[in-house]
Amino acid sequence: MAKGKSTVFFCQSCGYESPKWMGQCPGCREWNTFVEETVVKSEKKSTGRVSERRAAGGPVCLSSIETKDEERLDTRMEELNRVLGGGIVPGSLVLVGGDPGIGKSTLLLQVCQKLAADGRSVLYISGEESLKQIKLRAARIGEFSDRLLLFCETNLELIRETIEGSRPEVVIIDSIQTMYNENVSSAPGSVSQVRESTSILMQLAKGLGITIFIVGHVTKEGTVAGPRVLEHMVDTVLYFEGDRHASYRILRAVKNRFGSTNEIGVFEMRETGLTEVENPSEFMLNGRPEAASGSIVACSVEGTRPILLEIQALVSRSQLTMPRRTAAGMDYNRVSLLLAVLEKRLNLHLSGSDVYVNIAGGIRINEPAIDLGVVLAIVSSYRDQAIDEKVLAFGEVGLSGEVRAVSQASQRVQEARKLGFTTVILPEVCRQQVGRVDGIRLCGVRTVADAVRAIS
Ligand code: TYD
Ligand code: MG
Repeated sequence: MAKGKSTVFFCQSCGYESPKWMGQCPGCREWNTFVEETVVKSEKKSTGRVSERRAAGGPVCLSSIETKDEERLDTRMEELNRVLGGGIVPGSLVLVGGDPGIGKSTLLLQVCQKLAADGRSVLYISGEESLKQIKLRAARIGEFSDRLLLFCETNLELIRETIEGSRPEVVIIDSIQTMYNENVSSAPGSVSQVRESTSILMQLAKGLGITIFIVGHVTKEGTVAGPRVLEHMVDTVLYFEGDRHASYRILRAVKNRFGSTNEIGVFEMRETGLTEVENPSEFMLNGRPEAASGSIVACSVEGTRPILLEIQALVSRSQLTMPRRTAAGMDYNRVSLLLAVLEKRLNLHLSGSDVYVNIAGGIRINEPAIDLGVVLAIVSSYRDQAIDEKVLAFGEVGLSGEVRAVSQASQRVQEARKLGFTTVILPEVCRQQVGRVDGIRLCGVRTVADAVRAIS
């Protein structure tokens, strides 16, 4: 082996480095994700950084740092602004991850369109599609200003020169897995390439004050490095998710140095690109069955915004010795726990029944505030009694069957009222906090048994 050159095995999923091949990654527990890569130790690399640091000066004290009100670029897409924490921060590096075909390129092209229309100079660099393909996509989306420039290239040195030469305000790199740097010998998409490319882009973003959006595909097979490899290097990580078969898409902040990470943005994929969904509750409740047992609406707060969702449960007699339990859209273990609570505290004989729980619309919720909704949906299906469709329930359920308080109760009640619900079943503590609300009956409950009585 030549001097300065060594081979290392990288987990393509999380970037774990190992001198030898392993079947399972100790970092992320994925199987068969290790790939051998040649790493060349170049001495040239560090010199740029040192001179950069020298230019920035020595250590300083906090009080001597001047702060201006952080200026943010408005993307003209409220949903995206919210997820970014109020707009684009100049000089930041934003990773947009998601499954292939979910709509990352579409979203970013639309952002380019809006920014360019506002007079910002934008450069869209694609390593995946030809100019013609981008044009076809753009034609579906609408009119584009000439402030947007397109560039099909995968060589990072050329990209660096172009960016340094044209100094756009915003750059899109679609996708990081297609980019390559000649100094790194491994193939595009490998961990070393992806890391090296990102660090070059980071230097560009910080050095020139340009915002760079990086697209990263999430891969299951581990053939190319996943976005998790570079999550720690960037300022903001957004994941674009959604059911391929449903039209809505959710943009979620997983990491954000400039804002909260709880926010979500909801979009709908249409023929003409992505449209923002301003009222996700209404959207999620579309097509609710009427007077069907096993269905109730619950409320979850995502970031600062309450979202109403329909929870469906189906309890049917099982033919199997081990009854089936499935949970779509929520944690399976949470459903098992709630079933055990019902079995023990309400004497429901669920051990002989198959139980299916589903959050309609394909959205995934981890907030325990939907527990009470799940419990009531299961009871409703078990008894085959429909719950009045104007009833909404929220609250966390504890192991002794108690209904526990959740945060932001009055926001949830207001959202329910806005969408025409007339009764809200909620934890007693929350009812006392909320007080009286016109046009809605608040039904405070302390235990699951109280809640079941409230719907009978
Ligand atoms: P795309 O942005 O290419 O996904 P990604 O970059 O994440 O791989 O999205 C492609 C999908 O979106 C494709 O299945 C077609 C669909 N689509 C629409 O439904 N309407 C549109 O206007 C556009 C541009 C795409
Ligand atoms: Mg794409």
